[in-house]
Amino acid sequence: MRVMAVCNRKGGAGKTTTSVNLAAELAFLGWRVLLVDLDSQGHCAVGLGMKVRRTEPTAHTMFKDTQARLMDAVRASPFDNLSLAGADQMFEHDRGLRDEQRLARALTDDELVARFDLVIVDTPPSLDLLLLNALSAANWVLVPYVPHPLSFEGIRQLMRVLFKVMSTQNPDLKVLGFLPTMAADHVRQHRQVNLDVSRQFGAARVLKGIRNDIKLAEAFAVGQPVRYYAPGSRGAQDFSDLGVCLTQLLT
Ligand SMILES: Nc1ncnc2c1ncn2[C@@H]1O[C@H](COP(=O)(O)OP(=O)(O)O)[C@@H](O)[C@H]1O
Ligand SMILES: [Mg+2]
Repeated sequence: MRVMAVCNRKGGAGKTTTSVNLAAELAFLGWRVLLVDLDSQGHCAVGLGMKVRRTEPTAHTMFKDTQARLMDAVRASPFDNLSLAGADQMFEHDRGLRDEQRLARALTDDELVARFDLVIVDTPPSLDLLLLNALSAANWVLVPYVPHPLSFEGIRQLMRVLFKVMSTQNPDLKVLGFLPTMAADHVRQHRQVNLDVSRQFGAARVLKGIRNDIKLAEAFAVGQPVRYYAPGSRGAQDFSDLGVCLTQLLT
C-alpha cells in the first residue's frame, strides 16, 4: 500500500480538487484507492457527492480517541475502486492528541493494507499536527500550486517542513512532484513561476499542469469527478494525463 499526501500550506492551491480528481482517475485505472480527508472543511465528501453524518466516525476520530480505527471511517464512494474516510467538520485543529505518528500507525492496519493499493491524503492548509501526520505517514508528497509569484515562498516553507520530517520522523518520504494548477500557458508570469520552481527544486519534479477550467469547479459543485461530469473537458484531459504519469512514478 502506497501513501500519497497532497500538501501546500496555502489555501486555494488546488489540493482538494487534485485529491478528488486524482483519486477518481487512479481508481479508474484500477488502483484500489482510499481518499483520507484531514481538512475539517470536509470538501472531499462534497466533491464525491457524499455526506458524512455528524454521528459517524471520521478520519479525525482517531485524533480524539486512541482506540479508534481509521477503517471505521471508511465508506465506499459512488465510484468504482474509490473509498473515502471523510472529515469531521466539528474538529478543532490543533486540539486532540499530540501525536505526529497517529496516521502512520493507523495505516498499518491489516484490513486497510489488504483492501487498498493507494491512500491519498488531502491536508489542511495550516501547519498543524494534521499536516505533520500526513507527512509522517506518506511515501510521496504531491504539491499543487498556483503559478503565481506569491506561491513560491509558500512552497519553500513547505519544503522546509518536509526536509525536517524527512530527517526525523520519515526518512522514506519523497517528493512525487510539483503540480501547477489553474495554469495558463500563455501567461508569461505563470511560465516564469514554473521556471523558478524548476530551478529551485529540479525540472524533473515539475509535472505537466492542470489548466484553468471552470468545469473543474462545476464538477465539484455537483459532486462528481471531472472525468464523469465533463469527459471532453480540458480538466478531464489534464487529470487523465496526470493519472497515467503518476501511475508510472508510483510503480
Ligand atoms: N484547474 C482549475 N481550474 C479552475 N478552477 C479550479 C482549478 N483547480 C481548482 N479550482 C477551484 O479553485 C478553488 C480552490 O481549489 P481547492 O482545490 O479547494 O484548493 P485547496 O484545497 O488547496 O484549498 C475551488 O473553488 C476550485 O473549484
Ligand atoms: Mg482543500
